Amino acid sequence: MRLDKLLSNMGAGSRKEVKQLLKSGAIQVDGEIVLDPKQHVDVETQDILMYGEPVVYQKYIYLMMNKPPGVISATEDKRDQTVIELLFEDVTYFKPFPVGRLDKDTEGLLLLTNDGSFNHALMSPKKHVAKTYYAEVIGTLTEEDVIEVQEGVTLEDGYKTKPGKLVILEATDETSTLELTITEGKFHQVKRMMLALGKEVTYLKRLSIGELPLDSTLEPGEYRELTRGELALFDWTPE
Ligand code: URA
Repeated sequence: MRLDKLLSNMGAGSRKEVKQLLKSGAIQVDGEIVLDPKQHVDVETQDILMYGEPVVYQKYIYLMMNKPPGVISATEDKRDQTVIELLFEDVTYFKPFPVGRLDKDTEGLLLLTNDGSFNHALMSPKKHVAKTYYAEVIGTLTEEDVIEVQEGVTLEDGYKTKPGKLVILEATDETSTLELTITEGKFHQVKRMMLALGKEVTYLKRLSIGELPLDSTLEPGEYRELTRGELALFDWTPE
């Protein structure tokens, strides 16, 4: 791999910043200072130092995105823009994919990774990872709805959902706002649960997954890497 690409992938900065880094003589390969960003290196066999410290090759990437509406949570789509198309080259290099899905019109916290085991750990129905959503609906939510969600809502296909937690933020004669926490991820689950309660979702945003909240500084479409501390919230230590 080209040295500049490698350094950039490892978080040393943008290609431009990496070029500066090389120019300043900060990078050594097998004991020699290398100035040429185009030089090819082999991370398996060569000794690469930055300011005298070994450069550790990063195999996996873990991102959080504030998914904007109108974008598909998939790696490819014939018609629509995908979340992968919102990523810059320094991370697409890792070939990340979305951890689970949000509907095209849903916004908010979406994780992306190239680590299949991490994906499995979060998605496995056995793990019951809680997800909290903010929603706006047509219809008036009541305490009866709160209890029904607690006990499990029977969807239109007869499936009874696991107990969830509904918090009514505001309820008027016409519309309501709410937070809903569920531990499953059935297709269109929040919208279908609300429909079963006679409400129609007009806006949906995922706020958190497990103990991890969406970083409120991320604008729709923006993303960043998860910190080690954030990964630890899922009992995950990257290789
Ligand atoms: N539930 C839904 O209905 N849609 C989503 O995108 C996520 C959860």
